[in-house]
Amino acid sequence: MEKILVLDFGGQYNQLIARRVRDEHVYAEIKAYSKITADKIASEGYAGIIFTGGPNSVYDPSSPHFDPAVLNLGIPVLGICYGCQLMAYMENGEICSAGSISEYGKVDLTVKQSPLFKNVPEKSVCWMSHTDYVKTPPAHFEIIASTDNCPVAAMCDESRNLYAVQFHPEVTHTEYGKAILHNFLYDVCRCKGEWTMENFAASSIEKYRETLKGKRVLCALSGGVDSSVAAVMLHKAIGDNLTCVFVDHGLLRKDEGDIVENTFKTKMGLNLIRVNASDRFLAKLEGVTEPEKKRKIIGEEFIRVFEEEAKKIGKVQVLVQGTIYPDVVESGAGDAAVIKSHHNVGGLPDVIDFDEIVEPLRNLFKDEVRAVGIELGIPYELVWRQPFPGPGLAIRVMGDITKEKLDTLRLADAIFREEILNAGLERDVNQYFAVLTNNRTVGVMGDARTYGYTVALRAVSTDDFMTADWSRLPYDVLARASARITNEVHSVGRVVYDVTSKPPATVEWE
Ligand code: XMP
Repeated sequence: MEKILVLDFGGQYNQLIARRVRDEHVYAEIKAYSKITADKIASEGYAGIIFTGGPNSVYDPSSPHFDPAVLNLGIPVLGICYGCQLMAYMENGEICSAGSISEYGKVDLTVKQSPLFKNVPEKSVCWMSHTDYVKTPPAHFEIIASTDNCPVAAMCDESRNLYAVQFHPEVTHTEYGKAILHNFLYDVCRCKGEWTMENFAASSIEKYRETLKGKRVLCALSGGVDSSVAAVMLHKAIGDNLTCVFVDHGLLRKDEGDIVENTFKTKMGLNLIRVNASDRFLAKLEGVTEPEKKRKIIGEEFIRVFEEEAKKIGKVQVLVQGTIYPDVVESGAGDAAVIKSHHNVGGLPDVIDFDEIVEPLRNLFKDEVRAVGIELGIPYELVWRQPFPGPGLAIRVMGDITKEKLDTLRLADAIFREEILNAGLERDVNQYFAVLTNNRTVGVMGDARTYGYTVALRAVSTDDFMTADWSRLPYDVLARASARITNEVHSVGRVVYDVTSKPPATVEWE
């Protein structure tokens, strides 16, 4: 399969670059510059290489450098930001500090005719973020773009298919960034565009049908997107040789356990065991108020329950994990076989006796996982569901957890989610839920005094959940949710909206 190497020099946009390439239907993989050599690159058959940005200055001895031989392998290269300066440096160009004229943000760009700029007008806007720039390009390189403050906004050695841009084509603020990446992939690297989720799903099913033939395979299905897509894909490959265990810890949202069971077992025909373990979890959590202790108890109990079920099944050869590409990249694993246990089922590989782990989504970004899910026929609502933490509502009931509090929260949360759906906002807000605070407040209903719980509503917009902004929900949506919650959930007397971003807060309250 044709593929592009995103050679990572520590830039904050490296995953975005790979995603943009894949959006153009070309597979891209990210490798840290320190984990690959020019020889290895030559032997891998890459159609092209992209040098990413990075926070350093090329003249700083501790900054990431790379073997200049990579530029003479006959593989097209596109350098971006630091990658542009590095390419110039490797070929003896001159780089200097922009000092007071360093650029950050949207900048007017002027381009010359070049294969890289096909269908890009002479004047457009690009996104810059740099303190150094190329002052003099290397010999044989031609300047193909400039801005007011950056004489070499892009350069190339067309005869060797070497291109470099000081700006960031991968961010949406660069008006023609998509076209520029497209041109690099199709006009410079001569890619054909074979990477589609349809192809991926079909070829994966085919592959697992062969490699897992006759083996017993076990999957922990949480109902989250990743484990659901992994399970359905393997079910299509090996049918009932796949057993899915769904641990219902009683900390799920309203009707969630039934929806998961109904969808995957009844409708999609998976061999699914639902373990109703809510009493066990509640007993273990009794009186526990400390958030990290709650998490730990739930994680451990989950493993115990899963282990018991696995034992009932007997010897299992293969365990399925829903690891996705950002987990692989962030754990620094690259292509080394470091197995990162799934976030929600941490530690499983150590306690279950199995021979092999299969991670069918290991190379996919989240949006690709969703596209595969749709391709496999998983209902839209499940594929596009918002993230839900492994410890579930336990970290959304503040203080100690009781069944009564969980039931109260479930009702309030369901109403809030319904109102977001009714307002058609579910795709604009990345995560939205209710929290049951441990506070009771005084109120009045009819002529009587009430003393009910305070429910907090939380809705955030975010790209990566590392930072998040509170969502500016329309007042009327909040008003409807508040009115319905206080009317329909008897033990709730007050509703507040959380207007804190992350940082300083986190998305979850515990
Ligand atoms: P925070 O609260 O850390 O949340 O800002 C960021 C994202 O991670 C989810 N989250 C968890 N997911 N186990 C999980 O599987 C956890 O213990 C956990 N804690 C937070 C949270 O819902 C949000 O999407």
